[in-house]
Amino acid sequence: MKLTRDQISEFDERGYLLLPSVFSPEEMAILNREVPALLSADRPEVVREKDGKTPRTAFHVQTWNDVYARLARHPRLVEPGMQLLGSERLYMHQFKVNAKAAFDGAVWQWHQDYATWHADDDMPECKAMNIALFLAEANEFNGPLMFIPGSHKGGRLKAGHDVTTTSYPLWTCDNETITRLVEAGGIVAPKGPPGSVLMFHGCLVHASGSNLTPWSRWIVYLSLNRCDNAIRRFQRPAWIAARDFAPIEMLPDDCLTSGARSQAAE
Ligand code: SIN
Ligand code: MN
Repeated sequence: MKLTRDQISEFDERGYLLLPSVFSPEEMAILNREVPALLSADRPEVVREKDGKTPRTAFHVQTWNDVYARLARHPRLVEPGMQLLGSERLYMHQFKVNAKAAFDGAVWQWHQDYATWHADDDMPECKAMNIALFLAEANEFNGPLMFIPGSHKGGRLKAGHDVTTTSYPLWTCDNETITRLVEAGGIVAPKGPPGSVLMFHGCLVHASGSNLTPWSRWIVYLSLNRCDNAIRRFQRPAWIAARDFAPIEMLPDDCLTSGARSQAAE
C-alpha cells in the first residue's frame, strides 16, 4: 500500500498519520480470533500489569503465532514504513500486541520510543517508527494513544528511566517538558474502528491513560527500523529488542485471508 504525497507531508508535519479501516472485517476476525490465546499464554514474552494477572503486552508474537507471522510481513503495514523511513531494507525491531485490558489496563507514561531505543539498545539514529493496527476500536474512553502533534521535530528529548509506575520499564519525559510541548502542539487522541492503521514517528511524544471501560483496546505494533540503523547494545531480551537484522520480505496483499481459506479447504 503506497502513501500519497499529501499523506507523507501530513506525517512529516504532525508526526503521525491515521488511516481508518485499512483491513477488512474478515481480516480483523482472523486476527482477533487469536488474541485471547496470545494474551493468556504462559510465556515470558507476555508481560502482565502490576497485579501480576492482567495482560499488558504480548511481545514477539510473530515468532510464535502463524497468523501474526503473516501480519508482520503485510504490505499494507510494511510498505508505508519503507516510504516513510526512506529504505526498502527494514527489519522488525519490536513486534507486540498491547492489551490495554478492560477495567485493568494501566497507563503508558509520556515518552518517545526513540528515547528507549537509544538508551537501552544503542540505536544510532531515529530512523525507526511504529505502525499500529487497531485490533479493537480505540475510542475516547478506553485509553487511546495520545500524541503531541509536531513533538517529533525537536529530536530526542531528555528522559528519565521509569521503573516504578508500571510493570514495564520505559524512558519517560518529565512534566515540565510535556507542559512546554503541549502549549505548542496540543494533544490529539486518534480514534477509529478495528482495522485502522496509525503510523507514528520514533520521536513523537505519546502516552495513554488507564482503561476503566468494559472495552479492551487491543493494538498490534510493528516497530520497524532501517537495516542500516541496527542496534548495537543487546542488554534487553531479543524478544523485546530484536537481534535479527534481516530485511523483511513482504507477502502478497491477501496473505491473511488466503492462508485462512486454504486451511479451511484442507
Ligand atoms: C507504547 O507507547 O509503546 C504503547 C502505548 C499504548 O499502547 O497505549
Ligand atoms: Mn511508545
